[in-house]
Amino acid sequence: MDFSKDVLRHDEQAIMRLRTLYRQYGYSEFRMSRFEEYELYADNKAFLSSGDIVTFTGASGKLMALRPDVTLSIVKNTKDDGTLKKVYYNENIYRPDGFEFKEQMQVGLECIGEINIEIMGEVLLLAQHSLETLGQPSRLDISHMGFISGLLNNEELTANQQFAILSLVGERNVPELNRLCDEYGISAAFAEKITKLTSLYGAYEDVADQLRSMSINDATEAALDELEALSEVLRKKDSLMEINLDFSIVTDLSYYSGLIFQGYIDGIPTKVLSGGRYDKLMRKFGKRSGAIGFAVYLDLLERHNPTDDMINIALPKGRLGDIAYAMFEKAGYGCPAIYEDNRKLVFESPENGVRYFWVKPSDVPIYVERGAADIGVAGKDILLEYLPDVYELLDLGIGKCRMCVAAEKGVTIESVDRTLRVATKFPNIARNYFEKQGRDIDIIGLNGSIELAPLLGLSDVIVDLVETGKTLLENDLEPTETIVDISARLISNKVSYKFSYDAITKLCKNIAEAL
Ligand code: PRP
Repeated sequence: MDFSKDVLRHDEQAIMRLRTLYRQYGYSEFRMSRFEEYELYADNKAFLSSGDIVTFTGASGKLMALRPDVTLSIVKNTKDDGTLKKVYYNENIYRPDGFEFKEQMQVGLECIGEINIEIMGEVLLLAQHSLETLGQPSRLDISHMGFISGLLNNEELTANQQFAILSLVGERNVPELNRLCDEYGISAAFAEKITKLTSLYGAYEDVADQLRSMSINDATEAALDELEALSEVLRKKDSLMEINLDFSIVTDLSYYSGLIFQGYIDGIPTKVLSGGRYDKLMRKFGKRSGAIGFAVYLDLLERHNPTDDMINIALPKGRLGDIAYAMFEKAGYGCPAIYEDNRKLVFESPENGVRYFWVKPSDVPIYVERGAADIGVAGKDILLEYLPDVYELLDLGIGKCRMCVAAEKGVTIESVDRTLRVATKFPNIARNYFEKQGRDIDIIGLNGSIELAPLLGLSDVIVDLVETGKTLLENDLEPTETIVDISARLISNKVSYKFSYDAITKLCKNIAEAL
């Protein structure tokens, strides 16, 4: 049958091509209901990208959910009889996106049974072909949870400490990793390995020696042996696309133990494909088989925003932005037009390959996370408050201050014997801090002049930035605790980092030298 381009929409054409591809490799279609019992998701929250799920009461009185994920349904409904099952699906899922739930279209495949290296190679190859099928320049990067957990399990770390380290590896956040290793009293040898691993990016052949030199136990050796065998299998399959190792791709340790991977398309700001081996999930369902699969997020194709050769940089308007720009200029990324006396917000220097935007400081992470800017300068306060999904590449050492709890003289947190009223511009930071202290609080969200709140009896304490301490002093307030030290960070969009790897890493190096 000829599916003319006039008849099928762009996403429908993509679905047809992907279905044809998976069928050619012997995958059969798996159909399922869009409703599942909520319990399935409640029991496996960490496997999902978000715990927010649309629920309703079914006719039998059971709590039901609109399916936020397909893999769990397939695992639940697949027989564990030792034979290899190869299935693909084309289903809608329901997940939060921004402020609302959205119906999103997913196409993907799963292999359940005895998973050997040949099958892993086939799945990776199909992931590559899926990306190529979508038409734009694309790339597939892989990581191995076995290697990371092998390193982590060699140290005496609590689950929370492992999680904190993994999160920083996911941000490529070397400065904070060093600080955290210090705080946890971790050996210098481990700190060196984990920061090296975080910075690594390249084809297996190019980084294999470095990885072997970091290997410390049977688990890390086994992970490297598997990666080596996989690269050999892919070579034999004539895989044309270069696959890079990127250990900043991290997932929940309780579900994934081996190979994981993500796919990207130039101009789309987030991953469009995600997959891996999820044998640990199978064990949670009491199943002995192994499993590997991936999903392609077709709705994201609409977010395509063509890129050019310039690095787009979001700078925070104001004094911090001026200091940051001076740093970029010193590092060789000057843009004289920025000094012109006008109200323009975009400035370009084609000679230096940069385009600057002045944006509201708290908006910098939004521009970067959504790919409108490739990199940006944001205060750690803004990053901790909004937790954007970006890389944090450098601590610029400017805009230094502290996030503090402050109160009127003589007032301490302990002296308030009811729910503590906290006025702040940073509700998430305040909530997290007091939650860790086990203290019940009422947040009073304000947008500025926070110091007024305790003076007028609006709050008991404030959580705010303190630089010189002058504002507190002149309003008869004093800091009672420091929550965290703050400074400005250089952040990067995760996909831009991969497609503009040389330009962004060179810029980072030049800025670090100019610091
Ligand atoms: C920040 C912060 C404090 C003040 C601290 O306010 O919220 O109010 O600076 O600086 P200091 O310790 O050097 O006195 P900002 O100037 O951003 O204005 P805002 O009060 O409107 O938030």
